[in-house]
Amino acid sequence: MAKTKSIFICQSCGSNSPKWIGKCPVCNEWNTYVEEIVQKPKPFSGSFVKTKSSPKVLSEISLSSAERIHTGINELDRILGGGMVPGSLILLGGEPGIGKSTLALQLALESDKHKILYVSGEESEQQIKLRADRIGNTNGNCYILCETNLENIFSQLALVLPEIVIIDSIQTIHTDKIESSPGSVSQVRESASQLLAYAKESAVPVILIGHITKDGSLAGPKVLEHIVDTVLYFEGDRNHLYRILRAYKNRFGSTSELGLFEMSNKGLSEITNPSEMLISHFDENLSGVCIASTIDGIRPFLIESQALVSSAVYGTPQRSSTGFDLRRLNMLLAVLEKRAGFKLASKDVFLNIAGGIKVADPAIDLAVISAILSSNLDVPVSKKKCFSAEVGLSGEIRPVSRIEQRIIEAEKLGFEKMYLSKYNLKGLNIKNLKIKIVPLEKIEDLVRQLFH
Ligand code: TYD
Ligand code: MG
Repeated sequence: MAKTKSIFICQSCGSNSPKWIGKCPVCNEWNTYVEEIVQKPKPFSGSFVKTKSSPKVLSEISLSSAERIHTGINELDRILGGGMVPGSLILLGGEPGIGKSTLALQLALESDKHKILYVSGEESEQQIKLRADRIGNTNGNCYILCETNLENIFSQLALVLPEIVIIDSIQTIHTDKIESSPGSVSQVRESASQLLAYAKESAVPVILIGHITKDGSLAGPKVLEHIVDTVLYFEGDRNHLYRILRAYKNRFGSTSELGLFEMSNKGLSEITNPSEMLISHFDENLSGVCIASTIDGIRPFLIESQALVSSAVYGTPQRSSTGFDLRRLNMLLAVLEKRAGFKLASKDVFLNIAGGIKVADPAIDLAVISAILSSNLDVPVSKKKCFSAEVGLSGEIRPVSRIEQRIIEAEKLGFEKMYLSKYNLKGLNIKNLKIKIVPLEKIEDLVRQLFH
């Protein structure tokens, strides 16, 4: 009998090694190497589609077969580029408890025009029924299958002939063709490629749910990213209400779209006006609160940054930030010390971006700085003012992209003044705007404008 060969595979990124290694040299994760038996790969047939195909001139290809399937959840349709493409394989990833199963079940219950098969390897029929009752939607065309064996799933698929398939989750599914345990890289890859072949052959879109785990006990969705057509990630803080659904890869649409959802006791609801939700509605002006007009992907929204500056009790002042890069905060504080006489060494600084949202847009810098100065001086900044600019190392206020969109969003929400970089004014027609534009060149200008 031939000796079985085994190798060690990183459960996070899929890289392999003949020996066990503590830290993966590719993705830098610790303790993610697991021994797996190597199977001889089957010869690749050259195509996932079994029918023989011949080359065609691009202009002769008709689009009728590529009509999109609407999911009934507008935010999801938009992120997918206008609905699901038949035969596409979609990966929905996210941390446990973020709401992946809820979103998938909502999708299954929402679109009663389509026959849907929801395969769950994690929950029992009763649990799914309870969840469906909670969401409060019924769909006579939604079939539930609690199964983890891929071969059994395929035989059910042949009987039910659904129009959309949901697999919750790919890490619980196992195929008899591979010996390694469910959740391992080889199982996940093999199951996903069989499902891909099914999707391409039957033109049925398949949604795979994939967990992200930090300890590497399950193969991460990263190992599947190159197989699937679309990768969606569900982000957000589990303890906050808001969830962001983002497209990381999309063969049939843009990746700059993002959708916002709110977790309620009746499942997820779409947020169509994010700015209104993310700004607190205190009538009183509080010090240390400033609003930034930011853009994530292609979507503008207004976000509140809150700062608390207090005298440092201990020798080393504390710096803490939620939703904003701590290194960037330290840099902004150093700029403030140099340019605005802010005594860095004697102050504790706490920064929080409201709503549990992480902001990577540099346009939030100006609002962060204003919030810190406002808290430091204990002088509130009017809630009718809004900020949008990047701050450079020498204290210059730098222009940001798509300023018109940011201004329009702020104007729509009733802001009266907007602070931005002088260099953003080029080509901008501010005469027709109701909102007053205040151009700034340096931090000193900001301090003069706000606090003198
Ligand atoms: P779930 O969708 O199971 O997350 P995942 O599949 O990503 O692991 O559940 C998400 C959380 O949402 C869970 O902790 C319970 C909560 N939840 C609500 O708050 N309201 C609801 O209506 C539902 C169905 C779940
Ligand atoms: Mg789940």
